[in-house]
Amino acid sequence: ATAAPDILSEEFAADPYRAYRVMREDHPLIWHEGMQSYVISRYSDVERAFKDPVFTSHNYDWQLEPVHGRTILQMDGREHSTHRNLVAPAFRGRDLMTKFLPVIEQNSRDLIEQFRHDGRVDLVDQYATRFPINVIVDMLGLPKSDHEHFHRWYSSIMAFLSNLSGDEQVMAEGIRTKEEFEGYLLPIIRQRRENPGEDLLSTLCSAEIDGVRMTDEEIKAFCSLLLTAGGETTDKAIASLMRNLVAHPDQLAAVRADHSLIAAAFAETLRFSPPVHMIMRQPAEDVELSGGVVEAGKTVTCLIGAANRDPAKYADPDSFDLRRPDLDQGRAYTAGANHTAFCLGRHFCVGAMLAKTELDIGIAQLLDAMQDIRFDGAAPPEYGVFTRAPGTLPLTFTPA
Ligand code: HEM
Repeated sequence: ATAAPDILSEEFAADPYRAYRVMREDHPLIWHEGMQSYVISRYSDVERAFKDPVFTSHNYDWQLEPVHGRTILQMDGREHSTHRNLVAPAFRGRDLMTKFLPVIEQNSRDLIEQFRHDGRVDLVDQYATRFPINVIVDMLGLPKSDHEHFHRWYSSIMAFLSNLSGDEQVMAEGIRTKEEFEGYLLPIIRQRRENPGEDLLSTLCSAEIDGVRMTDEEIKAFCSLLLTAGGETTDKAIASLMRNLVAHPDQLAAVRADHSLIAAAFAETLRFSPPVHMIMRQPAEDVELSGGVVEAGKTVTCLIGAANRDPAKYADPDSFDLRRPDLDQGRAYTAGANHTAFCLGRHFCVGAMLAKTELDIGIAQLLDAMQDIRFDGAAPPEYGVFTRAPGTLPLTFTPA
């Protein structure tokens, strides 16, 4: 049999999909000594780890707490459902469509305006990394002049979260950012409690279920989570979606002719090249998965990118096809999804509809502004193992 791939090796980082195949077939359960974690790769096992409540999120206590404080990601059971119900309505239909649609449209337009006459753009640097964070800052009702602070805080928190080698300077910087962010946001939260507006921050301040409200500290932690949960993921989705379309000119032409296909292209991108590749869980009891038993309290790393290309689930899984019949495009952004990019079950991404709305609007605007889009050079490679997408996306185009 083949040797078990090492998910922290350079070989893995260069082409995780090759390793994912070996894992699914020959090594569905691996113990990784360096990460002190089991690693699972089959769709059925990843789905089980996300949906079965025996799998807790206790591992986030040490992964997220130092930079974010306590957020819904770390919570389980009743505490989780209560907090989730407090925040989730702000990311559903009415608020999204009426209050925040203009914010999304304007932020995308402002960025495109800066390069639309140039005929070339690095879509990652000039668009994807800016758009989702600018949207969140505006949704929270914070001044546009603070966009740059948010980009700096975001980079520092992301560096902390992906600091596999334990670099001390990066850790110290992440913790300093947490303090700086608190110093910035806590006074604003107090003001909004006294003078609420129509913004997301005011909505979070006044949200109440059975007499329970979030504390200032919890609102601050949630806003900090929004920066990373809603920033990096959505920016990687935009880069991967455009890369996938430019690499498949027939599918790009189809989407250009019919913008309603953007949602299907996004769904297939989430399956084929998900922004988040690894999510961890810890079972409260011993659990039997393919390949053996995971003991209670041990960490399990769920490989989303591997599950999403499991041939037991999808025909011809390594091809990008926005019309594939075995992916439920219509429910790809709901808890009924049949891919794992947003997780499944009770922690299913709160921002999935927001991400879909941002992509629907953003990609349509990009296609309208840019004709004849091509790679400026070779197709760009993907980077990252925890999260993954092209690091740059240089494109040439004819201004429309
Ligand atoms: C949860 C992916 C966009 C907010 C999650 C989880 C995943 C995910 C995998 C589960 C994490 C876990 O259980 O450990 C994505 C992807 C996105 C995206 C791929 C874009 C394509 C967004 C946006 C927001 C957001 C735009 C909000 C602004 C959240 C929150 C949670 C979450 C608050 C925690 C839910 C809970 O614990 O109950 N997301 N996300 N996400 N996401 Fe997203």
